Amino acid sequence: TAERPAEGLKVVITAGPTREPLDPVRYLSNHSSGKMGYALAAAAVALGAEVHLISGPVALATPYGVTRHDVESANDMLAAAERLADDCDLFIGCAAVADYRAEAPAEHKLKKRDDEDAMTLRLVKNPDIIARIAARDDRPFVIGFAAETRDLERYGRDKLTRKQLDMVVANDVSQDGLGFGADDNAAVLLWKDGDAIDRDAQPPQPKSRLAEAVLKRALSRLNTTHHA
Ligand code: C5P
Repeated sequence: TAERPAEGLKVVITAGPTREPLDPVRYLSNHSSGKMGYALAAAAVALGAEVHLISGPVALATPYGVTRHDVESANDMLAAAERLADDCDLFIGCAAVADYRAEAPAEHKLKKRDDEDAMTLRLVKNPDIIARIAARDDRPFVIGFAAETRDLERYGRDKLTRKQLDMVVANDVSQDGLGFGADDNAAVLLWKDGDAIDRDAQPPQPKSRLAEAVLKRALSRLNTTHHA
């Protein structure tokens, strides 16, 4: 219907940081607040969708009507994403997934050594979750985020092509009060239209409103492509 244009659609969203264990008490992570992903989840419910939110550790309440799946590491997040990707219509990768994890997390707490001033940690690449989902035969419509500090559009377009995404939300994280941790965001939406790439520049606005703009754009694309 007009008020619930996402009725009948299954939406899966990743949000927040991942936590990569070093030993039983330590981890590698980042400052992602999860606010944009949670705003997308709330907006998708309001539009009538069935929403699954795969969330790294964040200090946010689960939005009304959202089914939340808590994960910690990138590998856990990938497993949840693969499991929920079946019959998924729209997948949004909003999580700040750690690019690397410790190759071999210690089984017991690492001890400080008095005889060594340096310590080497070997890291290995984490799987690219959104690229895995986009590579599926039964792929949903896939939206990725590109957080950049310069050449926003160039990197955004590159990500769209390289990860085979349907849409990229490119946001400038170098501006004060926008992006990481903030309540507001500005972004350029980029999407494939045949061989061309279309764009829609969204001014600074609350993440809730930007979330709605992203979803409405995606829904109109979903209805005009084979994904519908
Ligand atoms: O390549 P980059 O990390 O900048 O791409 C960001 C986009 O890819 C985001 O949508 C993010 O959620 C997703 N991503 C992912 N798995 C990774 C790294 C990034 O799903 N390992």
